[in-house]
Amino acid sequence: MTRQFCHVGSRTIAYLDSAPGDTSLRPYVLLHAFPLGANMWEPQMRRIPSGWRLITPDLRGFGGSTELDSLAALSVGDYADDIADLLEELSVDRAVIGGLSMGGYAALALVQSRPEMVEALILADTRAGADTPEARANRRNMLAIVDREGPSGVALEMMPRLLGKTTLETNPTAEATVRRLIKQQSPVAIRGAIHRMMHRPDSTPLLAGINVPTLVIAGAEDVLTPVAEAERIAGAIAGATLTIIPDAGHLSNLEQPEAFNDALASFFARL
Ligand code: MLT
Repeated sequence: MTRQFCHVGSRTIAYLDSAPGDTSLRPYVLLHAFPLGANMWEPQMRRIPSGWRLITPDLRGFGGSTELDSLAALSVGDYADDIADLLEELSVDRAVIGGLSMGGYAALALVQSRPEMVEALILADTRAGADTPEARANRRNMLAIVDREGPSGVALEMMPRLLGKTTLETNPTAEATVRRLIKQQSPVAIRGAIHRMMHRPDSTPLLAGINVPTLVIAGAEDVLTPVAEAERIAGAIAGATLTIIPDAGHLSNLEQPEAFNDALASFFARL
């Protein structure tokens, strides 16, 4: 699928779009994890529910999207601003907004800043809370790895936790895909994302106020955002559906695409 580009001020936002310009379809947006890009949603691009249009942006700095010149005062709100700007450019007032892990942080930031744009919500393998002091220390370590070894070092460091046990043992193709997606990213994007994530606010207080249909997804073998996190999120949002994907770790959409796509399809059938 060809990358599309939208220019907002001095920024470029790149994205994949299953049906460019088709306003007759209902739009849904899927936001990628750290440190990947829009292409992590290729398995979802291959199965779009009938009547729907999938838009997957590269978050700031990733893929074909530009990062700011200065990395001062970064916030996950930047990602939310980009999503809002992109949707405005595409004349989309409201969409289903979904995100996996870091993409979930961005989706919650959009719920915070522009709830009127969110028709329904999908939160996959993510958490609502802010970083703990230990998580921040790990982020500082990751910053040192990016500086020293670049994206390949980050891939090496993260791989054992990004993918579940079953995938690591049985699916070398998934591992190669994830490694390739990480190595395509720029150190600037990775640094920017680390800073944004380590300073993100606690979104837990937001959850009780969410009154749109919500699907929470978790890989049963996710060690980065364990199932208990998904249960906490689903328990705090009235009427949320929780789907656990067997034999999947953190990147549940890539590890078990059919089960993940089934979860999306049955959620969309109810909207
Ligand atoms: C992700 O997959 O986006 C990251 O694991 C999120 C994080 O590091 O908090």
